[in-house]
Amino acid sequence: MTDPSPPPSDADVALKALRKVLRARRRGVPAAERKRAALQLARAVERSGWLRLGRRIGLYLPLAEEIDTQPLLDAALRHRCALFVPRVTDYRRHRMQFLPYDSTLQRGRYGILEPRGGIARSARNLDVIFMPLVGFDADGNRVGMGKGYYDRALAFLQHRRTWRRPLLVGLAFACQQVDALPARAHDIPLDHIVTEAGSRRFIRPRPFT
Ligand SMILES: Nc1ncnc2c1ncn2[C@@H]1O[C@H](COP(=O)(O)OP(=O)(O)O)[C@@H](O)[C@H]1O
Ligand SMILES: [Mg+2]
Repeated sequence: MTDPSPPPSDADVALKALRKVLRARRRGVPAAERKRAALQLARAVERSGWLRLGRRIGLYLPLAEEIDTQPLLDAALRHRCALFVPRVTDYRRHRMQFLPYDSTLQRGRYGILEPRGGIARSARNLDVIFMPLVGFDADGNRVGMGKGYYDRALAFLQHRRTWRRPLLVGLAFACQQVDALPARAHDIPLDHIVTEAGSRRFIRPRPFT
């Protein structure tokens, strides 16, 4: 029988090792620093002006090793944004959708809290998507946990001329930055990054204009 998945490329092998290093680095951020970083992150996002009444915001609920999004979530609710949270809809094919944030949450298979119900939306119907990441570089390339959930959810950005598209904002600790990441064809880059050190915009020619 033939293996349906292609062999890993050099970039895939290098990224696997890099994920390990970067995840260890983010796990190594001490508790007090984590708390302060999460508050600084929320303040940096508030200064950005993205949190406005009725804005459709996608925001992840974090794993313990990721930067905490609770202060940002509280800020988004205070600004009366329409808040949506990812839920895995297909673990085999690594698909997720966004559900309205609700205080009744349950843990999915990865141990991440997810809304129990509500009407699912695809990423293309959101105004801003805050994305978790394992690493980012100075050009806005992103590496995630290695399953490609966000790349798949945002794949429509590759083949379509869209006049409306969500703004993609990565959230991370500053220590998750690396010099350069490979940009593979399926990887969807960030428009902005926000860390405890502040916010930065990435400007690149749009492939679809
Ligand atoms: N739009 C897509 N369609 C099909 N497969 C995809 C897509 N995006 C990512 N993948 C696949 O998912 C896997 C994980 O993607 P990768 O970019 O390495 O993970 P992550 O973004 O989580 O770091 C790769 O094998 C990749 O080919
Ligand atoms: Mg990717």
